[in-house]
Amino acid sequence: MASPNQTIDKTIKNTKTVLDANNIPKVDIDFMNNTHFEELELVEKLGKQILDYQTLSETGNPENTQASEQAISRLLNNWLEHTIAHFERENKLMQDTGFPAYPVHASEHEIALEKLKNLISTWEKNKDIVQLADYVFTFWPDWFNTHVNTMDMMTAKFAVMNGFDPHGTPDQ
Ligand SMILES: [Fe+2]
Ligand SMILES: [Fe+2]
Repeated sequence: MASPNQTIDKTIKNTKTVLDANNIPKVDIDFMNNTHFEELELVEKLGKQILDYQTLSETGNPENTQASEQAISRLLNNWLEHTIAHFERENKLMQDTGFPAYPVHASEHEIALEKLKNLISTWEKNKDIVQLADYVFTFWPDWFNTHVNTMDMMTAKFAVMNGFDPHGTPDQ
């Protein structure tokens, strides 16, 4: 049976970095692209912290490991806040422009937000780094890439075609 460290090695080797920010599909609206870029930077930091945690837990210094655990928790909470604001702004854009597939796009947001909340509460309970790494390095990049390429892409195109300024924000 594989030890936890062997399992995480395998997870990380299969996935390398979170996602390359330059390879994220661009949509037609600046504020959306900026938000996506910021999110990637945030998740990359989290990915690095997960790798650090693995190294620290191997050296067996409990104090450093605990500090790394706390850093992961902080980044997860930043990610949650960022995601809430991200989805709220896109939902507002869809409402302002009358995007017909609003319920589909908004429900993808709702499901993703629930998953992230569950991930965080599970991490706080069990500190299972393999499970966390799997989400951050595998599940999330796939989800994000697909979501931006489909829902966000269509939403931005529709909004601009209906007169939304590509350089504007929904709050204006
Ligand atoms: Fe988005
Ligand atoms: Fe979206």
